[in-house]
Amino acid sequence: MDRELLEKNARFLVSPGRGILAADESNGTMSNRLEAVGVEASSETRRAYRANLFSTEGYESAISGVILFDETIRQTMKDGTPIPSELSNRGILPGIKVDTGAKELANHEGEKITEGLDGLRERCSEYFAMGARFAKWRAVIRIDAGLPTKACITTNAHALARYSAICQEQGLVPIIEPEVLMDGDHDARRCYEVTAEILDATFSECESQGVHIPGALLKPNMIIQGNDCENQISREEVANLTVECLTNHVPHDLPGIVFLSGGQSDEDATAHLNLMNKMTQEHPWELSYSYGRALQADALRKWAEDTEDSDISSQAAFLHRAKMNSLARFGDWSQDLET
Ligand code: 13P
Repeated sequence: MDRELLEKNARFLVSPGRGILAADESNGTMSNRLEAVGVEASSETRRAYRANLFSTEGYESAISGVILFDETIRQTMKDGTPIPSELSNRGILPGIKVDTGAKELANHEGEKITEGLDGLRERCSEYFAMGARFAKWRAVIRIDAGLPTKACITTNAHALARYSAICQEQGLVPIIEPEVLMDGDHDARRCYEVTAEILDATFSECESQGVHIPGALLKPNMIIQGNDCENQISREEVANLTVECLTNHVPHDLPGIVFLSGGQSDEDATAHLNLMNKMTQEHPWELSYSYGRALQADALRKWAEDTEDSDISSQAAFLHRAKMNSLARFGDWSQDLET
């Protein structure tokens, strides 16, 4: 394992004022998102939409890394430049989603286990040769009556650690993503308990399997109530509970935490991150973003109105959100900057 390379790239990904763009939606998910805005889904429309984002002027000041899907890492920009080279030329690290999706967990109705360990070593080696320097694996944890089960927690934690160990062996910084979903009517306290449980299990597995924590990043959910919960907590409470939970359940030698947005509104995702970075309390890790929807939703709506590789209004929408989140890295965002 090249510890120096892993640590250098992990720190680069969370360097001041920058974060990650998660553009690694699977073909199925990306197709659904395109169809939802009235665009026919195909390999070409998925390419054109993303190539438009990746050619935005100046976004590299707010984006240190972009997570790609297998289809995209093999595609090119309009002028034929391979997408990983386009990103590297701008000083952005290309990343790759390496899990093959969350599948039904046998004997545990309503729960999922993320697959993709078979052949992972060979795929990581190929992606490294294509320019990727970090990877992502997403585990999905659902809260409901009696859920999550121990089986769901332990199997997903084990898989996250096995994935991380293989990535590091192959020179890729693993982004460890145990996502506790916002679906359901649970309150923020329950989200806290379940998040603490999956974090403890994941880092315990990482320790057993020799994962080098200073060469990895964590991509967690924030501590927030379910979408159908009547008791909505304030932005300040989300920020405080999230930092408290992470402080008590994440190793302090991890270089950075890059949150997912998970279905929060664009502005909530920015505001929560901003409040955490504004706290006077010192955090042992960088607190940053690896947003998918919260960076892209508006840009995608605008692109659907004019599906070109050089759609300025879509790029402006993406650049605006990237800049708002960049400011939130320093606690410098405020609501009036949104208008
Ligand atoms: P969202 O920010 O849309 O939750 O996506 C982040 C991600 O990469 C989920 O795996």
